[in-house]
Amino acid sequence: MKPIRPFHQTPVITIDGPTASGKGTVAALVAAHLGFHLLDSGALYRLAALASLRYAIQTDDADALAALINDLHITFREGLAQLDGVDVSAEIRKEEIGNRASAIAVHAPVRAALVARQRAFRKEPGLVADGRDMGTVIFQDATLKVFLTASAEARAARRYKQLIQKGISANIDDLLRDLRERDERDSQRAAAPLKPAADARLLDTSSLSVDQTVEQVVQWYQSVVVKS
Ligand code: DC
Repeated sequence: MKPIRPFHQTPVITIDGPTASGKGTVAALVAAHLGFHLLDSGALYRLAALASLRYAIQTDDADALAALINDLHITFREGLAQLDGVDVSAEIRKEEIGNRASAIAVHAPVRAALVARQRAFRKEPGLVADGRDMGTVIFQDATLKVFLTASAEARAARRYKQLIQKGISANIDDLLRDLRERDERDSQRAAAPLKPAADARLLDTSSLSVDQTVEQVVQWYQSVVVKS
C-alpha cells in the first residue's frame, strides 16, 4: 500500500520568472497535464492593486495596503478572479494594474499579508505555483523549482501579441520600456526580490515553444518524483 504523505509534503512545482516570461501559460498547462491545482500569485497582487485603486489607497502606504489585503474578499472560480463577488479577470490584466501590482509588491507588509492566502492553495494531489518568489519564499520546500527566463525583446514581443489578440491596442516600445522598469523594480526590491532559488532549474524560453517548455517542466518533475 502507498504511504500517505503528510500534508506539508503535498507536491508543489514552483515556476518563477520575470514579466511575460510565459510562466502563467506554462504553469496552467503543466497543472492541467498533471491534474494539479494552480496558483497564479501575480493575480493576487493584481487584485490587491485593483482594490487599492478603488479604495484610493496610495501605493506607498504599506500599512494601509496590508490592512486592505487582510479584509479582501477574493475567490478564484473556473479561471475567473472575483473581488467582492464580482468578476474582475479582464480588469486585472491591464498593464496599468500590472504596474501598480509591481509598485505595491515592494512592501514587506503587503507581501506578508499575502503569504497565508498563497500557501492555502497547496492541496492534494499537488500544486503548480507561478510568480516571483514561489521557490525562494512561499514554497521553499517545493518538489521542483523552475526559473524561466527570456530576453526582454522576446518577452515584449509575446506581450504585444497577447494584447493584440485580445483586441487591446499596444505599442511595442512602450511595452519594452515598462517591462524593463518592472524587471528592475521586481529584482532590486529588498523584500523577496525576483531571483532564482539556489536549487531552481533555469530554463531560457526565448527560442522554445510553449509545448517544448511544458514538456521540459513535466519531464523534470517526473524525474524528481521517480528519484524520491
Ligand atoms: O506575474 P504578474 O505580472 O501577474 O505580476 C504582477 C506584479 O505582481 C509583478 O510585477 C510583481 C508582483 N508579484 C510579486 O511581487 N510576487 C509574486 N509572487 C507575483 C507577482
